[in-house]
Amino acid sequence: MTATETARARPAYREVEVDVEVRRRQEVSDGVVTLTLADPTGADLPEWAPGAHIDLLMTPSLVRQYSLCGDTANRAEWQVGVLLDPNSRGGSQFVHDKLHEGSTVRIRGPRNHFPLVGSPRYLFIAGGIGITPLIPMIAAAEAAGAQWRLLYGGRTRSSMAFVDSLQRYGDRVTVCARDAQDGANFRANLSSALADPGENTLVYCCGPEGLLTAVEDACKTWPPGSLHIERFSAKAIEEPSPGALETFEVECQRSGVTLTVPPDKSIYQVCEEAGVDVLGSCMEGVCGTCECDVLDGEPDHRDSVLNDAEKARNDVMMTCVSRSRSERLVLDL
Ligand code: FES
Repeated sequence: MTATETARARPAYREVEVDVEVRRRQEVSDGVVTLTLADPTGADLPEWAPGAHIDLLMTPSLVRQYSLCGDTANRAEWQVGVLLDPNSRGGSQFVHDKLHEGSTVRIRGPRNHFPLVGSPRYLFIAGGIGITPLIPMIAAAEAAGAQWRLLYGGRTRSSMAFVDSLQRYGDRVTVCARDAQDGANFRANLSSALADPGENTLVYCCGPEGLLTAVEDACKTWPPGSLHIERFSAKAIEEPSPGALETFEVECQRSGVTLTVPPDKSIYQVCEEAGVDVLGSCMEGVCGTCECDVLDGEPDHRDSVLNDAEKARNDVMMTCVSRSRSERLVLDL
């Protein structure tokens, strides 16, 4: 997730790695299933807040992140919504083919790089399956008495998850399906909603890269910190990054080792090969699993998780993609 400018409060949760059971599986739209997950012993799952995601560890090499989209007050069950991606690299295919009611799957988390910051007004923007993290955000905004509206775009109405349940919010929700005869035009709605900065309004957006880029561009005239975005795929980054060093040293302070990172390897790879305890998942700078504290030095941030203000603080970094602008980085590893 990236949010432009100001810092976000990073909620710290009790993170777990446990086997959970698929309690229910429901087809909520064409190509989208929701899985309701529960601890088989009936134990409570950790607390989470809107914007949080979990890792599904389908096989040792197949780990994917999915936003929690259920009720934050329900500690007994978690819910994720998964779109069967025609270009699936295995994750959504596994969920659709192999995870049925009664199946067991290992999960890790929750983790939150897309927290909902308190505000009197919100503009939520979803493209396709990007609706999932916004569902609990809308519930929280509603419970807090905030003013909000949702622009929800999709290919066809039947492919858009949660459209029926969103109907209860009336005209605060604008559904724009490209196949609908009377469908509102998503781009036109987007342009008019973002044309002028909304007073005390935060924008939360999740969806495909084209939508995120368009919203980022449109929000350039909004006050810093207005826009909060969650990415499911890595943002294209300028190559080479100005000021970045090809080779540099990483001192892993807790492990007491100093390693050289060559141009063709990531910090994560070098640490893993040296036996330093690191945890990662996407290896694309998207999921935030490999985040670690920077104790000294200046990272070259190349991830799609941190916002600009967080990058400027240089106190954390994603070791799977980010590199260094200083000869030596000292990391809390
Ligand atoms: Fe996902 Fe590094 S492993 S951000």
